Amino acid sequence: MTKPATPNGSTLGAENRGAFSTSAAPALPVDSGPVVRRRDTTGSLVMIADDNELNVRVAQAHLTGAGYSRFLTVTEPIEILPTVYRDEPDILLLDLMMPGISGLEILAALRCDHRFAHWPILILTAATDGELKRAALEQGATDFLNKPISPEELVPRVRNALVAKYYHDHLEEQVAQRTAHLKLAQREVVHCLARAAEYRDNDTGQHVMRVRAYVEIIARNLKLDPEIVQLIADASILHDVGKIGIPDSILLKPDRLSDEEFEVIQHHCGFGYSICSRVPLETDDCGEHCQSGNLFLDTYSSPLLRTAATIAATHHEKWDGSGYPRGLQGTDIPLEGRITAVADVFDALSSRRPYKEPFSVERCVSILQQEKGRHFDPALVDVFLDNLDEAIAVREQYGDD
Ligand SMILES: [Fe+2]
Repeated sequence: MTKPATPNGSTLGAENRGAFSTSAAPALPVDSGPVVRRRDTTGSLVMIADDNELNVRVAQAHLTGAGYSRFLTVTEPIEILPTVYRDEPDILLLDLMMPGISGLEILAALRCDHRFAHWPILILTAATDGELKRAALEQGATDFLNKPISPEELVPRVRNALVAKYYHDHLEEQVAQRTAHLKLAQREVVHCLARAAEYRDNDTGQHVMRVRAYVEIIARNLKLDPEIVQLIADASILHDVGKIGIPDSILLKPDRLSDEEFEVIQHHCGFGYSICSRVPLETDDCGEHCQSGNLFLDTYSSPLLRTAATIAATHHEKWDGSGYPRGLQGTDIPLEGRITAVADVFDALSSRRPYKEPFSVERCVSILQQEKGRHFDPALVDVFLDNLDEAIAVREQYGDD
């Protein structure tokens, strides 16, 4: 039976809705009119820049009368930009006609700086300066204040510009917060999926966490972009998600697998690819699409899942072409797959398995060295072994015992 909707349309009770609150920031109001009047902007830092000191004093006096108390006043045009950069006021009232450097030049310089691209700059100008006003608008002026300045014009224009800045700043903040929440939720879902697959043959689920950490060590020390490092590391935890499609009788078999059974096991790469990409591996040229960036999955797969699909499909490929499922060779194997191969094998060697005890670090290192250029990309083995201390610390942190 459908749960009746609460007055606000939600089918969640109040106790549950709280758990879904995503932000401490207030929701944007639908009607901005009353809010413009309500929002107090008088605590803002107002900068007034005019080579005529009398104009500065008049503007300051009008704003002081409206409750504003924090001012930066500059009458030396050459000091305007350094003052803005240093003190980052909330709004600038700027004269256009000044000696040395014009207001238009200052406007252009500030609009080129991303920090001040949407920042309120009100131009102080004579009502007759039509051409100059057009030029100022071209350069991104927010609004105009006609000289001589009247409080009836000045105060509401300053307040409106400050309110607009407040919502612009907070909108960006809110979008950043929501984006971060979405990324976190996506990572958590990916972790859940990885653990679900891992519980099939590993009670602790620590294998995927160690592989993730080893992948992160290699990718970071390759000096990849930090966002790419995070992406590959997060995606790597799904490398064996395709095990979900392998029968228990084969996946959990403690004895050596027959050739037929090993063939079945190999299908976990294709299953993993399909789970992450919703496309059967056979219909896509994974190696090519990863390298060319021509991702036809763009329309319905996130970068995290696309990378996970690539890793699932290629983490058993070998540098010399003897791996599976496709026998890709060398750099035809996507980098994320080559990195995960080193991490996955190191973890298999250094961990307890039903059929073996953990190998010593020395023995693991020796096997990785032997397999350089055969199983593994030699450069990646070197990077991993150069940072072996980090890997050993990971093994201790995420132990199975
Ligand atoms: Fe695997």
